Amino acid sequence: MTASFAPDPSLQKSLQSAFAPHLRALCERTSVALAAGGYTGLLVSAGTAPLLFADDRTAPYVPNPHFRAWVPLANAPGSFLWFEPGAKPRLLIHSPDDYWHRSPGIPDSYWSPEFDIHVAADPAAIRALLPSDLSRAAYLGEGFSFLTALGPGAVNPPALLRRLDYARAAKSPYELLCLRQASRLGALAHRAAERAFSQGHSELQIELAFLAACGQREQDLPYNPIIALNGAGAVLHYQHLDPLPPQIHRSLLIDAGCSFAGYPSDITRTFSAHEDDFAALVRAMDAMQQRLCARVRPGLDWRELHLDAHRETAGVLHQAGIVRCGEDEAVASGVTAVFFPHGVGHLLGVTVHDAGGWLRGPEGGQIPPPDGHPNLRLTRVLEENFVVTMEPGLYFIESLLAAARGDARGRRIDWARVEQFAPCGGIRIEDDLAVTVRGCENLTRDAFRELTG
Ligand code: GLY
Ligand code: MN
Ligand code: MN
Repeated sequence: MTASFAPDPSLQKSLQSAFAPHLRALCERTSVALAAGGYTGLLVSAGTAPLLFADDRTAPYVPNPHFRAWVPLANAPGSFLWFEPGAKPRLLIHSPDDYWHRSPGIPDSYWSPEFDIHVAADPAAIRALLPSDLSRAAYLGEGFSFLTALGPGAVNPPALLRRLDYARAAKSPYELLCLRQASRLGALAHRAAERAFSQGHSELQIELAFLAACGQREQDLPYNPIIALNGAGAVLHYQHLDPLPPQIHRSLLIDAGCSFAGYPSDITRTFSAHEDDFAALVRAMDAMQQRLCARVRPGLDWRELHLDAHRETAGVLHQAGIVRCGEDEAVASGVTAVFFPHGVGHLLGVTVHDAGGWLRGPEGGQIPPPDGHPNLRLTRVLEENFVVTMEPGLYFIESLLAAARGDARGRRIDWARVEQFAPCGGIRIEDDLAVTVRGCENLTRDAFRELTG
């Protein structure tokens, strides 16, 4: 089994050989983007941990995604990346003289030889390591106290951000390695969570099993896990973790992923505690998700796939006796949107819902989602090396059902069937897919398969 959080020498070697070409490509495309805006350099802030109001604690530190796109340095708040076309990227590591906290030192990792690395104890030392004139440099990151003292030419210029975001969709071999590894960790942790569910544990205990299996703290994960027992599965981004087990275990919807070198996995599985109609519905959704995955290849318009997912959902709802009308009518009347109110998937990259999903081109412009589908986060045509999630869902959401009951959609729905399923909340099946020349690599299914050998 390769999925583990122990150091793996062969993985380190692969990462090392893939990182240099990855960084070279990033430098090249950043140079083009900077030239288009008339900038001579790029300064990227790692960010800092925000201080909580009226408190002396901070929120968890999460590096700025534009910084993460350059360097997998997770624990150096206040650091900077400086890039000038033609020169080795410079990493300025903020390492304050602080006996309350451990300050970062010079990193020694597979990626570190590719950077010109300096440590700096305070803002003045950081400033001294940058060119004196930054008036033609672009800065990416949040505002902070000495930003004006740096005097960058532009702060988060939208046209530059669009170019960088647009290009981020296609992943390098290095990024694919990281995403594969994040999926392996995710699969390992999902297996542990599934076991905790089958043992009758609570939502919180299931999360603790997930964290123990992947060896990551909650703040290291790419998003807070959604661990929903029974009816809570109807809440799309359910955020509670009940510490007590419910009286009866009916179902578990777990949407949780792990991080590797700043790259995420985003995985959802749904389980029924019993061999019942809900279990059959989960199997129908799993089969449908696999049919959708089989369609993924370069040239696929994601908007079309999303609309096809609605037609597929109509078929599943009809088969389960939840809706009484045919597929076209269920989609056109908005009945499928009652049960499937989110998008079928999104770009996956340094952020889980990665940027640039609606961009028409590097210069900007937007491809809007189809009418009536505002929650679709990706509207682009797929290209080789895009990484996307595939996540159809089917939920029994009280507020959406109540609204449908009161209008023309209500007579198309079998309410007795809805009531039967509602205590199980909902279903989502989510895999991460890397688009290949002719199809896609399913990072998630491959990772689960590896675990079973
Ligand atoms: N984990 C959030 C999503 O699947 O989009
Ligand atoms: Mn997702
Ligand atoms: Mn998810």
